[in-house]
Amino acid sequence: MSVFTYQQGSLHAEQTSLASLAAQHGTPLYVYSRAAFEAHFKAYDEALGEWPHQVCFSVKSNSNIAVLNVLARLGAGFDIVSQGELERVLAAGGEPSKVVFSGVGKMASEMVRALEVGVGCFNVESEAELVRLSEVASSLGKVANISLRVNPDVDAQTHPYISTGLKDNKFGIDIQKAPAVYALAATLPGVKIVGVDCHIGSQLTDISPFLDALDRVLMLVDELAAQGIEIEHLDLGGGLGVTYRAETPASPQQYIAAIKERLGERRFKLIFEPGRSISANAGVFLTRVEYLKLNEHKNFAIIDGAMNDLIRPALYSAWQDIKPVNEQSSAPVRRYDLVGPVCETGDFLGKDRDLAIAEGDVLAVMSAGAYGFVMASNYNTRGRAAEIMVDGDQAFVVRERETLTSLFQGESVLPG
Ligand code: LLP
Repeated sequence: MSVFTYQQGSLHAEQTSLASLAAQHGTPLYVYSRAAFEAHFKAYDEALGEWPHQVCFSVKSNSNIAVLNVLARLGAGFDIVSQGELERVLAAGGEPSKVVFSGVGKMASEMVRALEVGVGCFNVESEAELVRLSEVASSLGKVANISLRVNPDVDAQTHPYISTGLKDNKFGIDIQKAPAVYALAATLPGVKIVGVDCHIGSQLTDISPFLDALDRVLMLVDELAAQGIEIEHLDLGGGLGVTYRAETPASPQQYIAAIKERLGERRFKLIFEPGRSISANAGVFLTRVEYLKLNEHKNFAIIDGAMNDLIRPALYSAWQDIKPVNEQSSAPVRRYDLVGPVCETGDFLGKDRDLAIAEGDVLAVMSAGAYGFVMASNYNTRGRAAEIMVDGDQAFVVRERETLTSLFQGESVLPG
């Protein structure tokens, strides 16, 4: 059930009116719901129940420290891909021992910091990285817990830009080669093998690719056991899809039930790295109509939110629902392209939407809690939007709007 509902004709986040947030804080504006984040996290945690597990929220999908803190309070772990994300987790009160460090290009300095604070596991993506990690850990007198991210070569049947488990993708270690790399890991002094990891892609609406990947990972685990290498956990990555429009993805309950059934008696600790399925439908993006431009062939609503704020439509042709914050309007319904002020033809948040809108109206782009603010840029020297977290009938500014002068702070002109 969505926490974004119309109450007396006006769209709310929980018990807070979005129109009043737009009036108070201005637009464009990201608004998150604490209750939604909590419910989506608990869906995983409770479905796993007594099964040994760790749900590691994928920080890349929404890294605001208030979001991370809300989840940390529920016992969440975190999936990170950079030192920056690690520092956010620490600032938010997350426990380093519940962190998994993913990513193809970890730098030595990032490994040092992660070892110093004691992250739970490194998901190693190449042989070269494995060797470097062992060296870095040894030089600190430490041993790094590792799992290898294997690439099981399954087709996630999702958008090519967010499919990661195919042989052609840059991610992970070819599952055929994995036994040899594990054998190498077993000889290295600075690493300890604790798991196997895979992540095959994002926005998967069908669970069969996950199950195919699991089958291949289990075959690998058997092969490793025959080599004398025992693992403690399976990290199945993130990737469960959400409803943006009419998709009907499996729920975390259904997904986890299917995984448990496949595992049977093999009670490995399970790690998941969900991002989108926790954050997407916990946030909306508010934008105001600046101008209407009515042409013979096409009507444009020019809005104050743009591709620099929310790039998914421009980058992936992603469809996200767009709703007026106030349901009632005296304006006629027309078909619009909703375009931003950025000087690119690809700068749109929605196309061919039937809306009854007038200048000054506030619109909510739905499902914007994942890969929204985190992918925002300052293109066209536009400051990034503010972020608000709603908790019941209260609202908190969890990131201030960027000021224009801050955008060129740190730049300088040549002398003389
Ligand atoms: N773990 C790893 C290793 C990942 O690469 C990702 C996402 C996740 C977990 C979380 O996946 P999720 O549960 O959110 O699907 N910007 C794109 C999505 C990129 C996903 C990258 N990796 C979008 O806006 O659709």
